[in-house]
Amino acid sequence: MKAHASSIATPGLAGIDPDRVPAHVACVMDGNGRWAQRRGLARTEGHAAGEEALFDTVEGALELGLGWLTVFAFSTENWRRSKDEVRYLMNFNEQLLVRRRDELHAKGVRIRFAGRRDWRVPRRVIKRMDESAALTAGNRTMTLTMAFNYGGRAEIVDAVKSIVAEGIPASKIDDKVIAKHLYFPDMPDPDLVIRTSGEYRISNFLLWELAYSELVFTEVLWPDFRRADLFAAVSEYQKRNRRYGGLGASSRFHRGGSNGAQEAVDAEQLEGRYR
Ligand code: FPP
Repeated sequence: MKAHASSIATPGLAGIDPDRVPAHVACVMDGNGRWAQRRGLARTEGHAAGEEALFDTVEGALELGLGWLTVFAFSTENWRRSKDEVRYLMNFNEQLLVRRRDELHAKGVRIRFAGRRDWRVPRRVIKRMDESAALTAGNRTMTLTMAFNYGGRAEIVDAVKSIVAEGIPASKIDDKVIAKHLYFPDMPDPDLVIRTSGEYRISNFLLWELAYSELVFTEVLWPDFRRADLFAAVSEYQKRNRRYGGLGASSRFHRGGSNGAQEAVDAEQLEGRYR
């Protein structure tokens, strides 16, 4: 593994409790541009180098037995970047699917895309996304969700629009109704969100879903991120005490990763029983 500064130690898989592996890890793949600039390269070279990081992370996630891995590949705000960079990222994401989808399919990975399919996303990119999703739709070893032209606020706006379009009255709207109208209602909330590159913010990622996620930030720039960094983040996650606003029963009775809301309900029931 390449030497790099990290705010978290990097133990191997051996340091991880297999019974408390998160069900869902989400990554903000940040720092590609800075990685390239530090080497006197174009920002786009940093994105290209990020591909290896992504696929090593996928390998690591499979080794860990994660059911769900979600990565932030392009935000609804990233259109503000230069035309050249946006064009590069569109081509890059399309070609990445062409290069890698068979390999992911062979590993049993289901590929899905969360985000708006609006006029700004080139048709050929949508076509590759649809082909990749269709090819891998039957896979269940792990679901890799690529958040592409994705914004957490946009997702909530879209959910509200579909609730209104269905004529659901205000009196019937609660957390469950909103969650059911998100892009992937079957996706469990992330247990752990990792952001690379020493930036300590969420930047409009999974705003609804990460209400009770554990957050791990690392100084590592995305192109240097490897499975060892994923393992280190999971190890850090395993030290956390998830309380969901309660008194901590969920950590005592943790079932190895699950939907946070359900776990919170379980925790409440358990606390009621043991008080
Ligand atoms: C959020 O920060 C980060 C992202 C939306 C990730 C963007 C990632 C890429 C463009 C490269 C994807 C790489 C691969 C390998 C597919 P932000 O920069 O949008 O937000 P900020 O301005 O708050 O930092």
